[in-house]
Amino acid sequence: MISIKINDREYQVEEGKTILEAAREIGIEIPHYCYHPALSIAGNCRMCLVEVKGMPKPMTACSTRVSDGMEIYTDSKIVKEARKGVLEFILLDHPVDCPICDKSGECKLQDYYFEHSAQKSRYEFPKERHKVEKISKKIYLNPNRCVLCTRCVRFLREVTKTYELTTVERGSHAHIVCVDPESLDNNPWASNIADICPVGALGLNEFRFKKRVWFTKKVKAICQGCAAGCNIYVDVSNRKQLLDGDDDEIVRIHTAENRKLGQFFICDEGRYSYKLYNDKENRVKSPILEGEEINFEKAVEVIRKKSNVRKGVVILSPLHSIEENYAAYLFAREKGFDVFRPSSFRKELPEIALYMEEKKAPNDRMLKLMKLPKVSEIEEIDYDFALFLHNVGKIHSKSEVRILSVLKRATFSVVFEPMLSDFGKSANLVLPAPIFVEEDGCYINNKNLVQHSHKACDYMFNARPLWEFLESDFKSGEEIFVRFAKEQLDKDLNYQKLGTEGFEL
Ligand code: SF4
Ligand code: SF4
Ligand code: FES
Repeated sequence: MISIKINDREYQVEEGKTILEAAREIGIEIPHYCYHPALSIAGNCRMCLVEVKGMPKPMTACSTRVSDGMEIYTDSKIVKEARKGVLEFILLDHPVDCPICDKSGECKLQDYYFEHSAQKSRYEFPKERHKVEKISKKIYLNPNRCVLCTRCVRFLREVTKTYELTTVERGSHAHIVCVDPESLDNNPWASNIADICPVGALGLNEFRFKKRVWFTKKVKAICQGCAAGCNIYVDVSNRKQLLDGDDDEIVRIHTAENRKLGQFFICDEGRYSYKLYNDKENRVKSPILEGEEINFEKAVEVIRKKSNVRKGVVILSPLHSIEENYAAYLFAREKGFDVFRPSSFRKELPEIALYMEEKKAPNDRMLKLMKLPKVSEIEEIDYDFALFLHNVGKIHSKSEVRILSVLKRATFSVVFEPMLSDFGKSANLVLPAPIFVEEDGCYINNKNLVQHSHKACDYMFNARPLWEFLESDFKSGEEIFVRFAKEQLDKDLNYQKLGTEGFEL
């Protein structure tokens, strides 16, 4: 560790860090465009200029490393003037069309202008204009808004190594072009360029003109696409601020980084998976007993009576949270029922896999840690009572075919799922499960990191957590999580202890 001073306060920081990173860790934000923690340093935007004592000119914080005794000023007169100048320069050719720009409300140019500049443009000449175009099925490019930070170019060069975007021409004529739209169409990580673009130059076709970001609620969650457990932001349309009636619809999933995991991006499969969850038509809206909708109380009573048997089975799900699974497990333990887990599903990995070696379900590791037997080990017996936790998706694996047969052969079967599937259709009772954004839930990813996915909206229709249907004494999902951690992991954990980046087992 070395000692530096920022704005006259002394701090101990790690040697070798850049000023920008060291300041960020202390909690001092230095404005920047071209810097991105997962990309090489370009040092081209000059937005991060700071004053370093003894240096004749302001220095770029993103490319200058700290040294022992360094004295840095991030808000001196010189720095403020430099920032103002940089912003005036960037804005010379900018269309300033914020009212129709989808980045508005989360744009770094907008934010920094109000924070550091707020001056009128002195530029009197016509601005350089380029065509706005859809450069792939998923992405559009508005070169007029570009600040030429080259984050997009570096992402495609350094992370996916596919080189679809590049900068052409020079000086005030320089702009970004797509040289290989077909490759961009097929790049399974391509949509990240819309996230990392600090302004509204790159955006998702699907999100274009769809929703102003201030009419959404942004919540940090865990992607349900696979066991990598990538951190995501889920934007849900905010019912209280809306007049157009699309309450609690997921309008977008985008990247939330997790430095503990070294994860800065998400794949397109995870990003666009929200469409599955917006399918309100197929939602199980209330408990369904033999094809007829019933209320919550009746469903609880039916479960109480029908589960009062000797031979019962509960099949858990790697697609549900620890809370839902452990509530079902405790129910089975109390009744003396058998408990099984489905065999892991494996899917083809995209050609460029960043965070996974093998594609598995998001909570596969939880069920493995519990050392539960697989459904392939279920004996050929007909159970009096069977409960299966299912999430979204069609039946395709051998394991799922076997579960279906267990449900069909049972005297009374219950399926807990959010969308009506072939499992639900074959069960005597279907329980309306919440989707992942409707409740807090924890997942253990493929690197044994326990993470907390946050609730973004209320339960839709009559969905309820499973423990309420099972009449357990728990008052919240967190209580179940605490019990799971104690009994299965031998750890004293709660949501607060998991923090924003999770707990490593
Ligand atoms: S399009 Fe966006 S990410 Fe790419 S160079 Fe321009 S401002 Fe940067
Ligand atoms: S890698 Fe997996 S967890 Fe990450 S975004 Fe893609 S599907 Fe989701
Ligand atoms: S962030 Fe430092 S020059 Fe761009």
